[in-house]
Amino acid sequence: MSDAKNGGAAILPGDLARAVIDPHAYAGWDGLLDTFDHIREAMPVARVQPDTPGLFDPFWLVTRYDDVMRISKDNAAFLNNPRPVVFSFNEAIRFSRAATGSNMLVDSLVVFDAPIHPKYRKLTQEWFMPRNLARLEGELRTLAAATVDRMLEQGPEVDFVREVSGPYPLRVVMQILGVPPEDEPRMQMLTQQLFGGQDKDLSGSGMDQMTPEQVVQIVAGAVRTFEDYFAQIAEDRRRNPTEDVASVIANALVDGQPLPPRDMAGYYIIVATAGHDTTSASTAGAMQALARDPAQWARVKADRSLLPGIVEEAIRWTSPVQHFMRTAAADCELGGQRIAKGDWLMLNYVAANHDPAQFPDPRRFDAARSPNRHLAFGAGAHQCLGLHLARLEMRFLFEALLDRVARVEPAGEARRASSTFVGGLKTLPLRITPA
Ligand code: HEM
Repeated sequence: MSDAKNGGAAILPGDLARAVIDPHAYAGWDGLLDTFDHIREAMPVARVQPDTPGLFDPFWLVTRYDDVMRISKDNAAFLNNPRPVVFSFNEAIRFSRAATGSNMLVDSLVVFDAPIHPKYRKLTQEWFMPRNLARLEGELRTLAAATVDRMLEQGPEVDFVREVSGPYPLRVVMQILGVPPEDEPRMQMLTQQLFGGQDKDLSGSGMDQMTPEQVVQIVAGAVRTFEDYFAQIAEDRRRNPTEDVASVIANALVDGQPLPPRDMAGYYIIVATAGHDTTSASTAGAMQALARDPAQWARVKADRSLLPGIVEEAIRWTSPVQHFMRTAAADCELGGQRIAKGDWLMLNYVAANHDPAQFPDPRRFDAARSPNRHLAFGAGAHQCLGLHLARLEMRFLFEALLDRVARVEPAGEARRASSTFVGGLKTLPLRITPA
């Protein structure tokens, strides 16, 4: 598996390389985990090269927990800029450069490094801390309870994603951004064009049949719509500031100056898109696991001290953000491989969070797992800004479910999204017995 012509680098064989970049491979969870287990064991740091020259730049696939942690925490040695922070085909990068002058269509927190990144991050960091979020607790609890009550009215058979895990986090994020409920479907569609464009059910526009260039044009259109939309919200919040995060961003000063329009739009877009499909995927995954394991459902119902454990395990077990990319700032060594300055690396959170060296019996959903220091929120300077919010809203939702639902069982085939970036269940048919 190593290649002398490439200085002895561990080159991933073509079939495995295709599985890593093929969105459809991500629709089948067990097969995907088998692939990553195999790669982690055989080549924990593996070179992925395109079959067709020029299709994408080669990158290093990193699958071991320790290696992903090391890279994530060393933000000086492994940079987010200037290469795309998610896996991209060269056609998409070329289009983006022509359209915006940047390799990425959106300039947001995830694409900046120091010294800009810490200055931008600081603007909203306090807002996302537990002591500020405590203000939202009453509203979140009410919303969680209302969502579960509505599901019970639809029952006994429901699509949990459509009725619960999808709409609840979407409303939470839209509320903190000041987006009214009637605009939610538009926001959902735009997010899925940005993140889930590889899945025909989610993008709603046949994007899976299109060339990379056509896809990028749709994504660029989604970005422009987001930009125009949030420009109006920012204008309103400058005139009438409230306590929401939209007001913090609209009135933020960096070095005494307001954010440039493109960066302000990027800030709104990352908050608007990062927080709902991710949380939805984790919530739905946990419900699927519990529906298949009635003994564990009964145990967590009886022992509410397990609530934080359900949430943490839901996030590890599903790892909805499946990867991010970094670029090496200098030559280094990783997992026995020589990484050159400028090399591109894929931090594979799904693989790292199923590394048996860190998580015994990693495929088992275990609400009592301890320790559970997963990497699903990343680590280091870019660690998820919304992690306390995600945990809080999930806790309230599981509280409402455990209070109101006696029994939950699978009621049909659950399907996962075909997406290499943000992934998870897109349908989850369940049979619900009210408490
Ligand atoms: C289960 C839910 C979530 C998961 C699994 C998740 C995962 C992640 C991951 C893996 C990163 C990149 C970390 C890195 O590069 O080290 C990230 C960044 C980010 N997330 Fe989340 N996220 C979730 C929910 C949220 C929510 C609810 C929000 C806000 C409403 C949010 C906002 C952000 C932002 C703004 C960033 C960029 C941070 C930066 O680059 O400094 N996320 N998230």
